[in-house]
Amino acid sequence: MNDVLTINEVGPRDGLQNQRVAVSCDDKLRLIQALVDAGLRAIEATSFVSPKAVPQMADADELFVRLPEPDRVAYSALVPNVRGLQRAQACQVREIAVVLSATETMNQRNINMSLDQATEVCIQTVRGAIEAGIRAKAYVAVAFECPFEGAVSPDRVLALTRAMFAAGAAEVVIADTIGAAAPRAVSSLMRHATAEFGAARLSAHLHDTRGFALANAWAAIEAGIRKFDTSLGGLGGCPFAPGAAGNLATEDLVQLAAQSGLSTGIDMAALRSAIALAQTLTQRPLGGRITAWLGIQDTYRARTGQ
Ligand code: COA
Ligand code: ZN
Repeated sequence: MNDVLTINEVGPRDGLQNQRVAVSCDDKLRLIQALVDAGLRAIEATSFVSPKAVPQMADADELFVRLPEPDRVAYSALVPNVRGLQRAQACQVREIAVVLSATETMNQRNINMSLDQATEVCIQTVRGAIEAGIRAKAYVAVAFECPFEGAVSPDRVLALTRAMFAAGAAEVVIADTIGAAAPRAVSSLMRHATAEFGAARLSAHLHDTRGFALANAWAAIEAGIRKFDTSLGGLGGCPFAPGAAGNLATEDLVQLAAQSGLSTGIDMAALRSAIALAQTLTQRPLGGRITAWLGIQDTYRARTGQ
């Protein structure tokens, strides 16, 4: 078993895009620095989307050129179209992600395109990125259930994944955007996907809406997946997908990995400092499933001095 788990931290994008409290560019950079200090080496920093659609990401151009330690960290940005790619290119982005939702309605709500249009735009954007020497990955979103259309056929997800690889994507991220999947479905889809495309080119993006994110992550790990999107403190949600709660919390996956013989390179104490900062910046309580237990450990240590 490959014993390295790669974590792509998406809090600065998937997490912050959904916050009511405005977080300044300087504060986002402080948060990203705290994540780097915790050992995160892959971070989705922002998205080059329409500022009318997602005002929280309107500072993408300024943020990207100021990101800390760009030689040590693989920063990526989400782009919805060729216009977004051009903005990313101007900011020397080295990795972009396009988003292809698996259903008609979700593409309409998220990027105002039909499934066919969205597929075409994603193909053009991936090709454009490759020509510009930029690594391109593709999200296949609402890969298990769509908030508007219900259950999504695994065959459709595999077909869209195939199309993104055919366009030249280096990686496809299979996303449970609204956190509606359960482990059996994750296991089945991931096993089919790894068998066809190879685990090294796939990753999983899970949300914890129903409390199944960790169980789903384990199902994906058993299917061979070794790369995950997570968000510090479970920060997140999607403004275009009703009912989507936060992402799989980074600290939850770090702890699961540590107890399962998988290394992440992430320091839990430093990660908790980053989460504390995120709580202050977003003015809301954060924390994954592991938070209560970590708090009990703190109390025990304080009491016993161990
Ligand atoms: N960056 C900045 N502005 C952009 C842009 C981009 N990548 N793409 C389009 N725009 C601008 C256009 O110039 C236009 O501006 P104007 O009104 O001042 O003329 C406006 O946005 C609308 O453009 P249009 O091409 O008509 O697109 P639209 O209104 O159909 O919106 C998207 C399409 C894709 C641009 C928009 O839906 C979007 O950015 N969605 C992102 C959603 C998201 O981030 N979801 C979460 C992640 S999955
Ligand atoms: Zn998400």
